Amino acid sequence: MGLFSNSFDDRRKKAKRKPEPVPADAEIRIMDAGPYVVRGNVKLTKQVIVPEGQHYRYETAGEIEHGETFTLCRCGKSKNPPFCDGAHVAAGFKGEEIASRSPFMTRARRQVGPGIDLLDDDRCAFARFCHTEDGNIWEMVRKSDDPRIRERVIRAACDCPTGRLVAVDKETGEPIDEVYEPEIAVLDDPQQEAGGPLFVKGNIPLYAADGERYEIRNRMALCRCGRSDEMPFCDAAHLTFEFWPGVYTEDSGADRTVLAEKPHEGPDLA
Ligand code: FES
Repeated sequence: MGLFSNSFDDRRKKAKRKPEPVPADAEIRIMDAGPYVVRGNVKLTKQVIVPEGQHYRYETAGEIEHGETFTLCRCGKSKNPPFCDGAHVAAGFKGEEIASRSPFMTRARRQVGPGIDLLDDDRCAFARFCHTEDGNIWEMVRKSDDPRIRERVIRAACDCPTGRLVAVDKETGEPIDEVYEPEIAVLDDPQQEAGGPLFVKGNIPLYAADGERYEIRNRMALCRCGRSDEMPFCDAAHLTFEFWPGVYTEDSGADRTVLAEKPHEGPDLA
């Protein structure tokens, strides 16, 4: 298991170069009452949310092998996570897409700070990267005339997997974001003893079951526990329902997974 290979400064430097273009055929399509179908050989990794002091970082736990096209579980019942095994049928999964499809800029509120502004649309997966030793991101925006705090605001916003938080440069009016390569990271949150959403990075197009394309975003968190009230996006329900894929018990039943009683080993990456 390797640590996130680059420091945030390294990643910001990397952001000055152009991102890898999204492969022309890369896409995620939501199946009605079914899984996510991913095309275009999109990179699939496993990442863990790790506490460090009073802030958090991502730790990469490996790349998951897959074919050119693969299906990812959306109902939370698969016994071969993160892949779909057809369990949604027996579970009677509906997964109706009820989240707003309005563009982020029309939904987001702007918090004006002395050194940086912050856009916030409230779409939260409780990944907690907005909480640091210097306070939460909204408190830090108020103190962003301090260059160190300003950088910390940018970092916290860029790490938010849902795309909820976007820092905006006051001089240029442009959003500041990390350049993410196209990738889907399957998140786990051991501190909360839960599996997390699918962290979709790098502007991969997402299509609804009715064929409409969602706004293209650099960061999105898609529900994989099947319980979100903001489908297809994560709303942190995985914490409420103790979603812990990869460890099941005989009596866990069809409608929930159970909390692991041993260290989480995650799905078989072989
Ligand atoms: S994975 Fe977060 S609400 Fe389903």
